[in-house]
Amino acid sequence: MDNKKIVLSGIRPTGQLHLGNYLGALSNFVKMQNEGKYDSYYFIADLHALTTNPDPKELHTNVRHILAEYLAAGLDPEKSTIFVQSDVPEVSEMYLLLNMHVGIGELMRTAAFKDKARKALGITAPTQGDDDEDVAKEIIGASTNKRVNAGLLTYPTLMAVDILIQRADFVPVGKDQEQHLELTRRFARRFNSFYKVDYFNEPQNFNFGSAPVKVPGLDGSGKMGKSEGNCIYLVDEEKAIRKKVMRAVTDGGPTEPNQPMAEPVQNLFTILKLVGTPDKVQYFTEAYNNCSIRYGDLKKEIAEDIVALTTPIRERILDIENDSAYLHRVLEMGAERARARASKTLSDVREIMGITKF
Ligand code: TRP
Repeated sequence: MDNKKIVLSGIRPTGQLHLGNYLGALSNFVKMQNEGKYDSYYFIADLHALTTNPDPKELHTNVRHILAEYLAAGLDPEKSTIFVQSDVPEVSEMYLLLNMHVGIGELMRTAAFKDKARKALGITAPTQGDDDEDVAKEIIGASTNKRVNAGLLTYPTLMAVDILIQRADFVPVGKDQEQHLELTRRFARRFNSFYKVDYFNEPQNFNFGSAPVKVPGLDGSGKMGKSEGNCIYLVDEEKAIRKKVMRAVTDGGPTEPNQPMAEPVQNLFTILKLVGTPDKVQYFTEAYNNCSIRYGDLKKEIAEDIVALTTPIRERILDIENDSAYLHRVLEMGAERARARASKTLSDVREIMGITKF
């Protein structure tokens, strides 16, 4: 056994991956894997996906998509442990055990929970004062026949277990998952102090190199997400990519030299920086600053750069996705390795908690 630090991360299978997922997460996973400094675990969080009650067939298809996308992007089953969360039943048992030390109050105060609970109930957040007590009242007292399932509430317990059961040191995740990681550390400390052990360490976020990359969407605002026309999927055909990029929101163009950029235009430049070469960035920045820019040219450049980046990945995705025997082998290997580590942790945790054999 070597003493490499453990890196672990997962993606919820809710659809196909887009350029934002690739540049923000997956390409980082691949870099960390190839650096060879870490022992890496990358999984597909299918149990987490259940919290939003997906259609069973769709869930299965989505797991296949993500797996093929992981492999097509360069995750290598010889170098990383690639697995599906539900293939490690130890996770489910430890989730039950850890829940005994998790407070419903702290879970209800989690931002992601508040969001998703409101969505499930079809209510909107108060425009002023997002007071925790109000959330409890809103959710418990909502006069609707919709419900917030308990799995949604305990989502952070499950995520903490994913991390703690593999004794991970580093967890590369985006900003939106920081709070869940913070809870994971809190649960680890609480477990150690309750049982007077020094068992779990506190996992840290880790982003290769620098700050997390946020990929903007094409619709002019915020982050690349799954809404219509806002994202480029890794499996998008060249024609679709060009069409989406050409339709991206811009403005009427600069009228004064060195005019500040409106957000939608800034977003296009951010995308160009991520997919294009520095000389193109410089060329279009100068053209913007001296008001000679034609957004059509900028978009063409972005579209071609994206096509160049994603085409080989798309071709590999389509090949891999149809190779059921290969997918099966990869997951069998991954499950075996992930279970080996998980079962050791689970048996320690059971023992620490007093669940021991006679
Ligand atoms: N909650 C994460 C997300 O939605 C997915 C996830 C589940 C995860 N378990 C994890 C990420 C453990 C990192 C580590 O993006």
